[in-house]
Amino acid sequence: MLYPMNDCFLKTAKGAVLDRTPIWMMRQAGRYLPEYRQLRKQVTDFIEFCHTPELCCEATLQPLRRFDLDAAIIFNDILTLPNTMGAPLTFVPGTGPCFSQPIRSLKDVKALQDVDVDDMGYVMKAISMTRSQLSIPLIGFAGSPWTVASYLVEGSGSKVWSTIRAMLYQQPEILHALLARLARNTAVYLNGQIAAGADAIMLFDSWGGVLAQDQYSLFSLQYIEQIIEQLNVGSGEDRVPVIVFVKHGLPWMKQIAACGCDVVAVDGSVNLQSIAAQLGGARCIQGNLDPFSLYGDVSTIEKLVQQIMTACQGVPHIMNLGHGIDKNTPIVGVEAMIAAVRKFECAANSNQ
Ligand code: CP3
Repeated sequence: MLYPMNDCFLKTAKGAVLDRTPIWMMRQAGRYLPEYRQLRKQVTDFIEFCHTPELCCEATLQPLRRFDLDAAIIFNDILTLPNTMGAPLTFVPGTGPCFSQPIRSLKDVKALQDVDVDDMGYVMKAISMTRSQLSIPLIGFAGSPWTVASYLVEGSGSKVWSTIRAMLYQQPEILHALLARLARNTAVYLNGQIAAGADAIMLFDSWGGVLAQDQYSLFSLQYIEQIIEQLNVGSGEDRVPVIVFVKHGLPWMKQIAACGCDVVAVDGSVNLQSIAAQLGGARCIQGNLDPFSLYGDVSTIEKLVQQIMTACQGVPHIMNLGHGIDKNTPIVGVEAMIAAVRKFECAANSNQ
Protein backbone atom coordinates (compact mmCIF):
# COMPACT_ATOMS: atom_id res chain seq x y z
CA MET A 1 0.00 0.00 0.00
CA LEU A 2 1.26 3.48 -0.83
CA TYR A 3 1.77 5.52 2.30
CA PRO A 4 -0.14 8.80 2.02
CA MET A 5 2.21 11.61 0.97
CA ASN A 6 0.36 14.12 3.10
CA ASP A 7 0.24 12.52 6.53
CA CYS A 8 -0.35 15.58 8.73
CA PHE A 9 -3.85 14.27 9.53
CA LEU A 10 -2.50 10.91 10.79
CA LYS A 11 0.37 12.45 12.75
CA THR A 12 -1.95 14.97 14.42
CA ALA A 13 -4.49 12.25 15.19
CA LYS A 14 -1.73 10.40 17.04
CA GLY A 15 -0.89 13.46 19.14
CA ALA A 16 1.64 15.57 17.19
CA VAL A 17 1.37 19.37 16.99
CA LEU A 18 2.52 20.36 13.48
CA ASP A 19 2.88 23.59 11.48
CA ARG A 20 -0.04 22.53 9.28
CA THR A 21 -3.49 22.14 10.86
CA PRO A 22 -5.16 19.22 9.08
CA ILE A 23 -8.67 19.88 7.83
CA TRP A 24 -11.51 17.78 6.45
CA MET A 25 -15.29 18.07 6.75
CA MET A 26 -17.95 15.66 7.91
CA ARG A 27 -20.12 14.84 4.86
CA GLN A 28 -17.57 16.52 2.61
CA ALA A 29 -18.84 14.35 -0.24
CA GLY A 30 -22.50 14.99 -0.88
CA ARG A 31 -25.36 17.15 -1.93
CA TYR A 32 -23.87 20.63 -1.50
CA LEU A 33 -21.63 19.76 -4.47
CA PRO A 34 -23.26 20.16 -7.93
CA GLU A 35 -21.03 17.38 -9.30
CA TYR A 36 -22.34 15.00 -6.60
CA ARG A 37 -25.95 15.87 -7.48
CA GLN A 38 -25.08 15.08 -11.10
CA LEU A 39 -23.38 11.76 -10.22
CA ARG A 40 -26.29 10.82 -7.94
CA LYS A 41 -28.59 10.89 -10.99
CA GLN A 42 -26.89 7.77 -12.36
CA VAL A 43 -29.03 5.63 -10.03
CA THR A 44 -32.42 6.42 -8.48
CA ASP A 45 -31.87 4.52 -5.26
CA PHE A 46 -29.37 5.78 -2.66
CA ILE A 47 -28.66 2.22 -1.42
CA GLU A 48 -27.79 1.17 -4.96
CA PHE A 49 -25.40 4.13 -5.06
CA CYS A 50 -23.76 2.87 -1.84
CA HIS A 51 -23.48 -0.63 -3.35
CA THR A 52 -21.66 0.63 -6.46
CA PRO A 53 -17.92 0.98 -5.66
CA GLU A 54 -17.20 3.10 -8.76
CA LEU A 55 -19.82 5.68 -7.74
CA CYS A 56 -18.68 5.70 -4.08
CA CYS A 57 -15.08 6.13 -5.21
CA GLU A 58 -15.95 9.02 -7.51
CA ALA A 59 -18.10 10.72 -4.82
CA THR A 60 -15.21 10.42 -2.33
CA LEU A 61 -12.78 12.03 -4.78
CA GLN A 62 -15.04 14.93 -5.86
CA PRO A 63 -14.46 17.32 -2.94
CA LEU A 64 -10.69 16.71 -3.16
CA ARG A 65 -10.61 18.17 -6.68
CA ARG A 66 -12.07 21.43 -5.39
CA PHE A 67 -10.59 21.84 -1.94
CA ASP A 68 -7.19 21.50 -0.28
CA LEU A 69 -8.25 18.87 2.27
CA ASP A 70 -5.97 16.65 4.37
CA ALA A 71 -8.18 13.55 4.62
CA ALA A 72 -10.93 11.84 2.65
CA ILE A 73 -13.82 9.80 4.09
CA ILE A 74 -15.08 6.84 2.10
CA PHE A 75 -18.51 7.51 0.65
CA ASN A 76 -21.15 5.16 2.09
CA ASP A 77 -23.62 5.26 4.96
CA ILE A 78 -23.82 4.05 8.56
CA LEU A 79 -27.04 2.19 7.72
CA THR A 80 -25.72 -0.08 4.94
CA LEU A 81 -24.32 -2.47 7.60
CA PRO A 82 -27.66 -3.17 9.34
CA ASN A 83 -29.28 -3.35 5.89
CA THR A 84 -26.80 -6.06 4.83
CA MET A 85 -27.50 -7.79 8.18
CA GLY A 86 -31.02 -8.25 6.86
CA ALA A 87 -33.00 -5.18 7.98
CA PRO A 88 -35.01 -3.89 4.98
CA LEU A 89 -34.11 -0.23 4.39
CA THR A 90 -35.25 2.49 2.02
CA PHE A 91 -34.19 6.12 1.78
CA VAL A 92 -37.33 8.14 1.22
CA PRO A 93 -36.61 11.51 -0.46
CA GLY A 94 -37.53 14.28 1.97
CA THR A 95 -38.00 11.84 4.89
CA GLY A 96 -34.65 10.07 5.16
CA PRO A 97 -33.90 6.46 6.13
CA CYS A 98 -36.82 4.06 6.77
CA PHE A 99 -36.60 0.50 8.17
CA SER A 100 -39.89 -1.17 7.22
CA GLN A 101 -39.58 -3.89 9.92
CA PRO A 102 -38.34 -2.14 13.07
CA ILE A 103 -36.60 -4.26 15.72
CA ARG A 104 -38.91 -4.62 18.72
CA SER A 105 -38.35 -8.16 20.11
CA LEU A 106 -35.59 -10.67 20.84
CA LYS A 107 -36.89 -12.66 17.87
CA ASP A 108 -36.28 -9.62 15.65
CA VAL A 109 -32.72 -9.34 17.00
CA LYS A 110 -32.09 -13.04 16.40
CA ALA A 111 -33.42 -12.80 12.86
CA LEU A 112 -30.56 -10.45 11.93
CA GLN A 113 -27.66 -12.12 10.17
CA ASP A 114 -24.02 -11.82 11.14
CA VAL A 115 -22.00 -10.38 8.27
CA ASP A 116 -18.52 -11.23 7.13
CA VAL A 117 -16.16 -9.03 5.16
CA ASP A 118 -17.35 -10.53 1.85
CA ASP A 119 -20.94 -9.51 2.60
CA MET A 120 -19.66 -5.95 2.94
CA GLY A 121 -17.43 -6.42 -0.12
CA TYR A 122 -19.03 -3.44 -1.88
CA VAL A 123 -17.53 -1.12 0.75
CA MET A 124 -14.17 -2.94 0.77
CA LYS A 125 -13.93 -2.60 -3.01
CA ALA A 126 -14.80 1.11 -2.82
CA ILE A 127 -12.05 1.58 -0.21
CA SER A 128 -9.29 -0.22 -2.12
CA MET A 129 -10.29 1.49 -5.37
CA THR A 130 -10.29 4.94 -3.76
CA ARG A 131 -7.18 4.38 -1.65
CA SER A 132 -5.05 3.64 -4.71
CA GLN A 133 -5.92 7.09 -6.13
CA LEU A 134 -5.19 9.16 -3.04
CA SER A 135 -2.19 11.00 -1.69
CA ILE A 136 -4.01 11.80 1.56
CA PRO A 137 -5.32 9.36 4.18
CA LEU A 138 -8.68 7.66 3.75
CA ILE A 139 -11.04 7.39 6.72
CA GLY A 140 -13.27 4.32 7.06
CA PHE A 141 -16.32 4.56 9.31
CA ALA A 142 -19.36 3.03 10.97
CA GLY A 143 -22.18 4.19 13.20
CA SER A 144 -22.02 3.48 16.93
CA PRO A 145 -24.26 0.59 18.01
CA TRP A 146 -26.57 3.01 19.89
CA THR A 147 -26.96 5.32 16.87
CA VAL A 148 -27.58 2.47 14.42
CA ALA A 149 -29.99 0.84 16.92
CA SER A 150 -31.86 4.16 17.18
CA TYR A 151 -32.83 3.91 13.49
CA LEU A 152 -33.45 0.13 13.68
CA VAL A 153 -35.78 0.34 16.69
CA GLU A 154 -37.51 3.57 15.76
CA GLY A 155 -37.89 2.58 12.10
CA SER A 156 -36.84 6.03 10.91
CA GLY A 157 -35.12 9.20 12.05
CA SER A 158 -36.69 11.06 14.95
CA LYS A 159 -36.32 14.18 17.06
CA VAL A 160 -37.17 12.42 20.32
CA TRP A 161 -36.33 8.71 19.71
CA SER A 162 -39.18 7.76 22.05
CA THR A 163 -39.44 4.06 21.07
CA ILE A 164 -35.81 3.17 21.80
CA ARG A 165 -35.71 5.35 24.92
CA ALA A 166 -38.83 3.61 26.27
CA MET A 167 -37.37 0.19 25.35
CA LEU A 168 -34.31 1.06 27.42
CA TYR A 169 -36.51 1.01 30.56
CA GLN A 170 -39.16 -1.53 29.53
CA GLN A 171 -37.08 -4.21 27.81
CA PRO A 172 -33.39 -3.43 28.35
CA GLU A 173 -32.45 -7.05 27.59
CA ILE A 174 -33.70 -6.67 24.00
CA LEU A 175 -31.72 -3.50 23.58
CA HIS A 176 -28.53 -5.01 25.02
CA ALA A 177 -28.90 -8.04 22.74
CA LEU A 178 -29.23 -5.73 19.74
CA LEU A 179 -26.33 -3.49 20.79
CA ALA A 180 -24.03 -6.47 21.42
CA ARG A 181 -24.94 -7.92 18.03
CA LEU A 182 -24.25 -4.61 16.29
CA ALA A 183 -20.94 -4.18 18.15
CA ARG A 184 -19.68 -7.61 17.03
CA ASN A 185 -20.65 -7.01 13.42
CA THR A 186 -19.29 -3.47 13.40
CA ALA A 187 -15.89 -4.73 14.62
CA VAL A 188 -15.76 -7.31 11.78
CA TYR A 189 -16.83 -4.64 9.29
CA LEU A 190 -14.26 -2.08 10.45
CA ASN A 191 -11.45 -4.65 10.50
CA GLY A 192 -12.37 -5.37 6.89
CA GLN A 193 -12.12 -1.65 6.13
CA ILE A 194 -8.66 -1.50 7.72
CA ALA A 195 -7.53 -4.53 5.72
CA ALA A 196 -8.93 -2.93 2.53
CA GLY A 197 -6.81 0.19 3.10
CA ALA A 198 -8.57 2.57 5.51
CA ASP A 199 -5.87 4.68 7.21
CA ALA A 200 -8.09 5.81 10.09
CA ILE A 201 -11.46 4.80 11.51
CA MET A 202 -14.29 7.02 12.69
CA LEU A 203 -17.28 6.00 14.80
CA PHE A 204 -20.34 8.25 14.54
CA ASP A 205 -22.45 8.40 17.69
CA SER A 206 -24.83 11.00 16.32
CA TRP A 207 -27.62 10.25 18.81
CA GLY A 208 -25.64 9.31 21.93
CA GLY A 209 -26.46 12.76 23.30
CA VAL A 210 -30.14 11.86 23.87
CA LEU A 211 -29.14 9.43 26.63
CA ALA A 212 -29.47 10.42 30.29
CA GLN A 213 -26.42 10.60 32.59
CA ASP A 214 -25.23 7.06 33.46
CA GLN A 215 -27.25 5.51 30.62
CA TYR A 216 -24.70 6.87 28.17
CA SER A 217 -21.91 4.61 29.32
CA LEU A 218 -24.21 1.60 29.71
CA PHE A 219 -26.03 1.83 26.38
CA SER A 220 -23.56 3.55 24.11
CA LEU A 221 -19.96 3.99 25.27
CA GLN A 222 -19.65 0.42 26.55
CA TYR A 223 -20.34 -0.89 23.04
CA ILE A 224 -18.01 1.61 21.39
CA GLU A 225 -15.30 0.33 23.76
CA GLN A 226 -16.07 -3.27 22.79
CA ILE A 227 -15.62 -2.39 19.13
CA ILE A 228 -12.34 -0.54 19.64
CA GLU A 229 -10.94 -3.44 21.71
CA GLN A 230 -11.54 -5.77 18.76
CA LEU A 231 -10.00 -3.54 16.08
CA ASN A 232 -6.76 -4.54 14.37
CA VAL A 233 -5.30 -1.04 14.63
CA GLY A 234 -1.67 -2.21 14.86
CA SER A 235 0.92 -0.37 16.90
CA GLY A 236 3.64 2.27 16.76
CA GLU A 237 4.00 4.57 13.76
CA ASP A 238 1.65 2.55 11.53
CA ARG A 239 -1.19 2.45 14.06
CA VAL A 240 -4.61 3.21 12.58
CA PRO A 241 -6.06 6.04 14.69
CA VAL A 242 -9.66 5.85 15.85
CA ILE A 243 -11.89 8.95 16.00
CA VAL A 244 -15.04 8.96 18.11
CA PHE A 245 -17.71 11.60 17.48
CA VAL A 246 -20.52 11.94 19.99
CA LYS A 247 -22.98 14.68 19.17
CA HIS A 248 -23.89 16.47 22.42
CA GLY A 249 -21.37 14.32 24.28
CA LEU A 250 -20.08 17.15 26.49
CA PRO A 251 -21.27 15.61 29.81
CA TRP A 252 -19.16 12.49 29.19
CA MET A 253 -16.07 14.02 27.58
CA LYS A 254 -13.55 12.45 29.97
CA GLN A 255 -15.15 9.01 29.73
CA ILE A 256 -15.26 9.25 25.94
CA ALA A 257 -11.57 10.20 25.84
CA ALA A 258 -10.81 7.07 27.89
CA CYS A 259 -12.69 4.66 25.57
CA GLY A 260 -9.59 3.66 23.62
CA CYS A 261 -9.94 6.27 20.87
CA ASP A 262 -7.12 8.49 19.62
CA VAL A 263 -9.24 11.48 18.63
CA VAL A 264 -12.24 13.01 20.36
CA ALA A 265 -14.48 14.72 17.79
CA VAL A 266 -16.79 17.37 19.22
CA ASP A 267 -19.90 19.15 18.03
CA GLY A 268 -20.32 22.91 17.68
CA SER A 269 -21.84 23.46 21.12
CA VAL A 270 -18.55 22.84 22.90
CA ASN A 271 -15.80 25.29 23.87
CA LEU A 272 -12.59 23.70 22.61
CA GLN A 273 -10.34 25.45 25.10
CA SER A 274 -12.18 23.93 28.03
CA ILE A 275 -12.23 20.52 26.33
CA ALA A 276 -8.47 20.71 25.72
CA ALA A 277 -7.97 21.60 29.38
CA GLN A 278 -10.26 18.77 30.54
CA LEU A 279 -8.36 16.28 28.40
CA GLY A 280 -4.94 17.42 29.57
CA GLY A 281 -3.78 19.12 26.36
CA ALA A 282 -2.13 16.07 24.76
CA ARG A 283 -5.18 14.38 23.30
CA CYS A 284 -6.15 15.17 19.69
CA ILE A 285 -9.43 17.08 19.33
CA GLN A 286 -11.41 17.28 16.09
CA GLY A 287 -13.94 19.99 15.29
CA ASN A 288 -15.92 22.09 15.71
CA LEU A 289 -17.01 24.95 13.42
CA ASP A 290 -20.79 25.32 13.25
CA PRO A 291 -21.68 23.93 9.77
CA PHE A 292 -24.24 26.73 9.37
CA SER A 293 -21.54 29.38 9.83
CA LEU A 294 -20.52 28.50 6.24
CA TYR A 295 -23.64 30.46 5.17
CA GLY A 296 -22.06 33.53 6.78
CA ASP A 297 -19.77 36.07 5.14
CA VAL A 298 -16.04 35.56 4.77
CA SER A 299 -15.08 37.78 7.71
CA THR A 300 -17.47 35.92 10.07
CA ILE A 301 -16.09 32.56 8.98
CA GLU A 302 -12.52 33.84 9.41
CA LYS A 303 -13.27 35.10 12.90
CA LEU A 304 -14.82 31.79 13.99
CA VAL A 305 -11.97 29.74 12.51
CA GLN A 306 -9.46 31.98 14.27
CA GLN A 307 -11.28 31.51 17.60
CA ILE A 308 -11.11 27.73 17.25
CA MET A 309 -7.46 27.73 16.22
CA THR A 310 -6.52 30.06 19.06
CA ALA A 311 -8.35 27.81 21.54
CA CYS A 312 -6.35 24.84 20.23
CA GLN A 313 -2.90 26.40 20.14
CA GLY A 314 -0.31 23.87 21.29
CA VAL A 315 -2.91 21.09 21.32
CA PRO A 316 -3.19 18.40 18.59
CA HIS A 317 -6.18 19.62 16.60
CA ILE A 318 -7.90 18.51 13.40
CA MET A 319 -10.10 21.24 11.97
CA ASN A 320 -13.59 20.07 11.07
CA LEU A 321 -17.23 21.04 11.35
CA GLY A 322 -19.28 20.34 14.46
CA HIS A 323 -21.61 18.14 12.38
CA GLY A 324 -22.14 17.22 8.72
CA ILE A 325 -22.14 20.01 6.17
CA ASP A 326 -25.66 21.17 5.27
CA LYS A 327 -26.93 20.22 1.83
CA ASN A 328 -27.39 23.80 0.56
CA THR A 329 -24.09 25.19 1.88
CA PRO A 330 -22.49 27.70 -0.50
CA ILE A 331 -19.15 26.52 -1.89
CA VAL A 332 -17.64 29.96 -1.12
CA GLY A 333 -18.24 29.30 2.58
CA VAL A 334 -16.19 26.10 2.40
CA GLU A 335 -13.45 27.91 0.50
CA ALA A 336 -13.41 30.66 3.13
CA MET A 337 -13.09 28.14 5.95
CA ILE A 338 -10.13 26.37 4.35
CA ALA A 339 -8.40 29.65 3.41
CA ALA A 340 -8.83 30.87 6.99
CA VAL A 341 -7.18 27.73 8.40
CA ARG A 342 -4.16 28.22 6.13
CA LYS A 343 -3.98 31.93 6.99
CA PHE A 344 -4.04 31.48 10.76
CA GLU A 345 -1.68 28.51 10.83
CA CYS A 346 0.87 30.61 8.91
CA ALA A 347 0.37 33.52 11.30
CA ALA A 348 0.78 31.20 14.31
CA ASN A 349 3.96 29.68 12.84
CA SER A 350 5.57 33.05 12.12
CA ASN A 351 4.90 34.15 15.72
CA GLN A 352 6.86 31.25 17.17
O1 CP3 B 1 -18.52 12.68 3.02
C1 CP3 B 1 -19.20 11.92 3.73
O2 CP3 B 1 -19.19 12.01 4.98
C2 CP3 B 1 -20.10 10.98 3.01
C3 CP3 B 1 -20.36 9.66 3.60
C4 CP3 B 1 -21.49 9.62 4.62
C5 CP3 B 1 -22.89 9.67 4.33
N1 CP3 B 1 -23.57 9.44 5.50
C6 CP3 B 1 -23.50 9.90 3.00
C7 CP3 B 1 -24.95 10.21 2.87
C8 CP3 B 1 -21.35 9.43 6.00
C9 CP3 B 1 -20.06 9.38 6.83
C10 CP3 B 1 -22.67 9.32 6.53
C11 CP3 B 1 -22.91 9.06 7.96
C12 CP3 B 1 -24.29 9.04 8.48
N2 CP3 B 1 -25.44 8.60 7.86
C13 CP3 B 1 -24.64 9.41 9.81
C14 CP3 B 1 -23.67 9.84 10.89
C15 CP3 B 1 -23.20 11.24 10.71
C16 CP3 B 1 -24.22 12.29 11.01
O3 CP3 B 1 -24.51 13.06 10.07
O4 CP3 B 1 -24.71 12.35 12.14
C17 CP3 B 1 -26.04 9.25 9.94
C18 CP3 B 1 -26.85 9.55 11.19
C19 CP3 B 1 -26.53 8.72 8.71
C20 CP3 B 1 -27.92 8.31 8.39
C21 CP3 B 1 -28.45 8.99 7.20
N3 CP3 B 1 -28.05 8.76 5.90
C22 CP3 B 1 -29.46 10.00 7.13
C23 CP3 B 1 -30.16 10.56 8.35
C24 CP3 B 1 -29.64 10.33 5.78
C25 CP3 B 1 -30.69 11.24 5.18
C26 CP3 B 1 -30.27 12.65 5.25
C27 CP3 B 1 -31.22 13.54 4.48
O5 CP3 B 1 -31.13 14.74 4.73
O6 CP3 B 1 -31.99 13.08 3.62
C28 CP3 B 1 -28.73 9.58 5.03
C29 CP3 B 1 -28.52 9.62 3.56
C30 CP3 B 1 -27.18 10.10 3.08
N4 CP3 B 1 -26.00 9.60 3.53
C31 CP3 B 1 -26.92 11.08 2.08
C32 CP3 B 1 -25.52 11.14 1.94
C33 CP3 B 1 -24.76 12.01 0.98
C34 CP3 B 1 -27.98 11.83 1.28
C35 CP3 B 1 -28.71 10.92 0.34
C36 CP3 B 1 -28.61 11.25 -1.15
O7 CP3 B 1 -27.58 11.72 -1.66
O8 CP3 B 1 -29.61 10.99 -1.84
